[in-house]
Parts: sequence; structure tokens; C-alpha cells
Amino acid sequence: MPGIVIVGAQWGDEGKGKVTDLLAEKADTVIRFQGGNNAGHTIVREGVEWKLHLIPSGILHPGTTCVIGNGVVIDPAVLTGELDELKRKGVDISTLRISSNAHLIMPYHLLLDQVGEAKLGEARIGTTRRGIGPAYADKAARLGIRVQDLLDEKILKQKIVAAMEPKRLSLRPFQKDPSLDLQAMTDAYLVYGHRLESHIRDTAKLAWDALDAGRTVLFEGAQGALLDIDHGTYPFVTSSNPIAGAACVGAGVGPRDIDEVWGITKAYATRVGSGPFPTELHDDLGEDIRQKGGEFGTTTGRARRVGWLDLVALRYAARINSLSALVLTKLDVLSGQDTIRVCTSYLGKDGVEFPDFPYHQSVLHHSTGKYIDLPGWSEDITGCRELDELPQTARDYITFVEEFTGVPVTLIGVGPGRDQVIWTAASDGTIPRR
Ligand code: GDP
Ligand code: IMO
Ligand code: MG
Repeated sequence: MPGIVIVGAQWGDEGKGKVTDLLAEKADTVIRFQGGNNAGHTIVREGVEWKLHLIPSGILHPGTTCVIGNGVVIDPAVLTGELDELKRKGVDISTLRISSNAHLIMPYHLLLDQVGEAKLGEARIGTTRRGIGPAYADKAARLGIRVQDLLDEKILKQKIVAAMEPKRLSLRPFQKDPSLDLQAMTDAYLVYGHRLESHIRDTAKLAWDALDAGRTVLFEGAQGALLDIDHGTYPFVTSSNPIAGAACVGAGVGPRDIDEVWGITKAYATRVGSGPFPTELHDDLGEDIRQKGGEFGTTTGRARRVGWLDLVALRYAARINSLSALVLTKLDVLSGQDTIRVCTSYLGKDGVEFPDFPYHQSVLHHSTGKYIDLPGWSEDITGCRELDELPQTARDYITFVEEFTGVPVTLIGVGPGRDQVIWTAASDGTIPRR
């Protein structure tokens, strides 16, 4: 069972961290392949909450190799901080490997993220302000600074000068910002390089070696399909590709090395930041779900927007990721709702119905959900561990999702704890079972 990709099938925060931690038990290697510390992945083990931003969610398993792949953008201040924190808590971090080709988030990227958002005003994306967009922009412009550049002062300095030159005008208001001083920045990044040096590797080769030996490799995505820069709700997206295809590019393996693609979805929907959200709830019910689900950002603490499960978007995510399995998390949060709505098509501006995810952004912006009402359940399901312990209406809900998307649900989340899951019959066979 070598290559399994874990991706968000919505707008992020679906519970990828928890699922990765769960599957990591059976894996040899866990590789993050895109995004940066815009991600916030939460794992709850024996009542203790762990929040990871850059380090793969396999790190809590001693012996599992954790890789930050070439497709990730790394803020070394955040990474070293995260390493220190894990070390302090007694976690063995010696198994972390960092791609020499991964790009770095620099102090000017953080400032440019702020500037960009401020300039957009009302039209702002609502980024995490972690410098993600500007760092990927520099990568594409071939002005990026990579992990390997940290090991050579001369090269590092030259590259910083070249990268900052075209940004002079935008950075003028920050002229006196100490983080932009060339020597200070070079020195600080050389120190990071020194600290990270023992972790730096050719991680594509490492992935190949594990796969070639028939070991299980997990590819851990960040964000979600609808935040994909190509396939998401552009421009209200992140600056990388969170979909499964990017696992190959961002880790340095080929498509034939991927055997399974697991899409993680909540039993409802959330979104942080701006952009279209056809099933959004603006009423007390939305607030109720937000509170019950603890829907506040792991990275920025922002209240997440909440809505009903959008099956149009989920079926789209299943297609563009070629999902082989779905994980339905946070089903427990819906307990107590008399009726649970699922969006099965969109209604456009003039009442035109769209059965599929519209390719035109204006259509999406004016779309609202058309729903089917399914009966809810009142029972607390957080203690259920087998499918037949769930109320019949909850099982019917799961079946509806499977039939609409055409993807089997292998795992159901009934609470934040790593043991609060139900493995379904679909998880028999090739997919690893606990
Ligand atoms: P990620 O970014 O996809 O890893 O997701 P986050 O960690 O940002 O957000 C998911 C939140 O839901 C975390 O606080 C998890 O602890 C929590 N969570 C995950 N699965 C479940 C579940 O099945 N039920 C409940 N109630 N919480 C869950
Ligand atoms: P995880 O991995 C939810 C959102 C931001 C913003 C948009 C662009 O925890 O699921 P960026 O800083 O990436 O330029 O912001 O993307 N966003 C996320 N939303 N979960 C995330 O990560 C996100 N990472 C970015 O809120 O709307
Ligand atoms: Mg998150």
C-alpha cells in the first residue's frame, strides 16, 4: 500500500491533521507537498492538543520520517520555533527532513502580503498574512531563495539583493523596518541555515527510496480543493495547488507512485477569508454550528464562515482529485439538528439551476444552494466506534454523500480525539485499517 495522498476536499480545515496522524501509524514516511504556515493542522491525542503549521502531522509517531517537500514554502522563523516547541514537549524531531529545493518565506514576503491586502481594500482575499502568495510569486518569477541557499553567505546575499530590487517601490514605506536590512537579514537566515542544516536532504530521492522498497508513504496536503490556485474560487484562493496532482510535483514522485487519494470533508462546510460560499449560513444556526464545531482558525484565530454541506463542490473536488475515498469528519457536530440540508445544485442569478460546479466566477458569486432536507438525529454520537452504533438517519446521511459523490466513505469522525473515529466496511481491503 505505498502512496496515499491526503487532501482537503473543501476550503481547508477539514481535519487533515487528525487523519494524517491516524494513518501515520502505518506509514514509513509523511511528506508535506505544498502550502506553508498558512496551514494549521490540529491533532488531539489523549486530551492533549497539538497544532502544527509546517511540520508534517506524522511527527508524533517516533520513527516515522517526516518530510517538508520541495513544493512547500518555508518561513524558517516559524519552522525553528515549531521545532523548539516540539523538542520542549519531548518529541523526537531527528526524523525531520527538509527539501533543499523548497523555497523560503523572507521578511519582505510578509510585508508584501500585508501591502497587497491593504491595496485590495474591500476586495481583499483575507489571506493568513504569512507571506505565502509573495513567496510563491517569487518562485514563479525565479527570484526565490531556496533552502540550499542558506548554506552559502555569498549566494544568499546576492539572491536577496536580486529578489528585493523589483520590490523597492512597494517596500518603500518599510524602508526603516529592521527586518529588511540586508546584512541583518542575511545573518539571520544564515543562522537558520546553520540550525536546519542537519535536516536538509534530497527529499525526492528519499521518497523514491521508500516507495521503491514498498513502504507506505503519506502525502499530506494543506488547504483544500476550493482554495486551489487553478481549480478553486480564484482569486479567493491560496497560491499553491492543494489538489492531489500536486503531491507528485511537490514531493518529486510520479503519478504511478500514487495508489490512493483520500479526500477529507466535514459533514458541513466552512471557509476562512473572503470569496464565494453558496451554502453559507448567516443566521443563528450558523453560529450554533460554529460554536459546537469550534470553528475558529488554528492559524489566525478568525471565526470560520459556516454553511451546509455543498455536494456540488464536493463532487467537483472528488473529480479533480480523483478521490478513491472520502473521510467525513465532525459528524458529531450535527447531532441535535432536526433537519440537515445538503446542497445538490446551485441556483444562479435568474433562478437558473446549475447541477455542476460552474466554470465562470460570476455565476458562482451569484449562486445560492438548492437543498434536499434530510432527517437529523438527536443522539450524542461521540462514543460510537462502529457504523451500526450510529442512528439510522446518520447512516442514511453518509450513504447519501457516498451516492451523490460516487466515492466511498472509509472513515467517519465523531470527535476531535484520534480514537473518535468509525472505520467503515469500505476501508477493508487495500486501504490500511487500524
Ligand atoms: P486541518 O487543517 O484540515 O488539519 O483541520 P484543522 O485542524 O484546522 O481543523 C479541524 C478541527 O476539527 C480541529 O480542531 C480538530 O481537532 C477538529 N476535528 C477533527 N475531526 C473532528 C471530528 O470528527 N469531530 C470534531 N468535533 N472535531 C474534529
Ligand atoms: P489548512 O491546511 C483554511 C485561506 C485564507 C485565505 C486564502 C489565501 O489548515 O486547511 P493565504 O495566506 O494562503 O494566501 O490565504 O486561503 N487559507 C486557509 N483556509 N485552512 C487553511 O489551511 C488555509 N490556508 C489558507 O484564509 O482565504
Ligand atoms: Mg487547518
